[in-house]
Amino acid sequence: MRFSIPYFALGASIAVHDTAARAVVAVDEEPAVESRGLVGGLVGGVLGTVLGLGDVLEQLDQTQDPGTILDILNGVKPRATPTSLPEVQETLQSIYGAATPTNLFKNVALQLGSGLGPHDGGKDLTSIIAEHLDGENSVDNSNNPTNVSRAVYPSASAGDAPYSVPEAQLRAAIRIPAAFTFGAKPPVLLVPGTWSYGGSVFGVNLRKLLTGSPHADPVWLNVPGGMMRDAQVNSEYVAYAVNYLSAICNSNVTVVSWSQGGLDTQWAFTFWPSTRARVSNFLPISPDFRGTVLANALCLSADSELGLGPCDPAVIQQEHTSRYIATLRAAGGDSAYVPTTTFYSGFFDEIVQPQHGTEASAYLLDARGVGVTNVEPQVVCPSGSPGAGFYGHAGMLYHPLTYALIVDALSHSGEPGSLSRVDVADLCSHYAAPGLTLEDVLATAGLIPIALGLMLTSPDKRLIEPPILSYAKATSRV
Ligand SMILES: *[C@@H]1O[C@H](CO)[C@@H](O)[C@H](O)[C@H]1NC(C)=O
Ligand SMILES: *[C@@H]1O[C@H](CO)[C@@H](O)[C@H](O)[C@H]1NC(C)=O
Repeated sequence: MRFSIPYFALGASIAVHDTAARAVVAVDEEPAVESRGLVGGLVGGVLGTVLGLGDVLEQLDQTQDPGTILDILNGVKPRATPTSLPEVQETLQSIYGAATPTNLFKNVALQLGSGLGPHDGGKDLTSIIAEHLDGENSVDNSNNPTNVSRAVYPSASAGDAPYSVPEAQLRAAIRIPAAFTFGAKPPVLLVPGTWSYGGSVFGVNLRKLLTGSPHADPVWLNVPGGMMRDAQVNSEYVAYAVNYLSAICNSNVTVVSWSQGGLDTQWAFTFWPSTRARVSNFLPISPDFRGTVLANALCLSADSELGLGPCDPAVIQQEHTSRYIATLRAAGGDSAYVPTTTFYSGFFDEIVQPQHGTEASAYLLDARGVGVTNVEPQVVCPSGSPGAGFYGHAGMLYHPLTYALIVDALSHSGEPGSLSRVDVADLCSHYAAPGLTLEDVLATAGLIPIALGLMLTSPDKRLIEPPILSYAKATSRV
């Protein structure tokens, strides 16, 4: 059913105002603050009342205990289900367009209540998370240890950083589907983001589209700990997977990533130079090469002594001011190493900010002249078209430009995706990549509640960033 409630009208008028305001924002302003100030939580609050979630939102304001928050979220059942793609976009906008990033859990409650949570047979977050490591998300895959065409461990080449993770564990994190062709079609490595596994992240969007395509053979990473542990270690999984896949396929690899997966791939290129020669194209979606100013807000308990909540190691490393980010950028990781196409929503990434203009965390420079296309759909798509509308951190996985430019890059080895080779006007007239269903889009939006559920149950919370490993300490610009 379509919601028969007037909050959509309200959401729509605010949306127009917000989009118009965005166009004149100077690039050095923080979009998070600007967007928040403009609408001040009004729409989200109205939506909460409409959905009968006023009490739930109030409870979430009063607790910072992960177990309590998870219990509250487990109790939120869908009160409605969007029945069209425009309705999905409007609903997400009415939740996040009124952005209150200091309490993402309230927004997750609104997602769950409005039918934008995980569609998993009515299961609650606790059950979904309990089953999350089964099947396609397994970190324990049996891959042939001997059929590599050249050495990949302990080192693929002399300039590479040392691995701290045993090879068997690095190899077991690579999920190779039964239909894989071992190089007959170009291998595409899918790298997930924080609080997620590659199976779930891509199965309902890009992997679905790439499977069966003559251009691509998707494989994905499931990093133990769901990318919540030390990002330097997460990067080892990326570096190893690139070299292992290229060695079993005798071919270059294309890397498609989400969120932290992009940051860690860039770290892998920086400190495992052997990987640069094996990657034809890098296509990061909603990456955070500058970290995110929202990282602290994503951690719980603002009232600890330091004024910072205990956080997952990888989240501390994704703070805008972390040593991980500073080390990467000082070593040359602020520029691309291989042809790179980045995708990021200027309106409104609820996890990564700033994410607009040349100050966007996703924005990559091209000092090495390898070819970079930075794609912000609200800039690329005609104003007022569906593709220029509201997309969040996960929404870029189904944005029509994303899949089209991945295919374009795969068909033009040695070059990034080019907007001049795709039909921008036609693509921007769609809400989601052609070939994806309403169910796929709902399931992709549902990745955010699952990610937050994984965060609430992760055991290793810290106040201090993991130390920079010795191989990265003394680096000069390359
Ligand atoms: C690895 O094994 C697969 C499947 O048996 C095969 O197709 C591929 O050619 C092998 N790769 C190498 C480098 O031997
Ligand atoms: C593999 O990728 C590297 C780096 O992008 C590129 O220089 C090289 O030409 C590619 N090789 C093939 C066979 O496409």
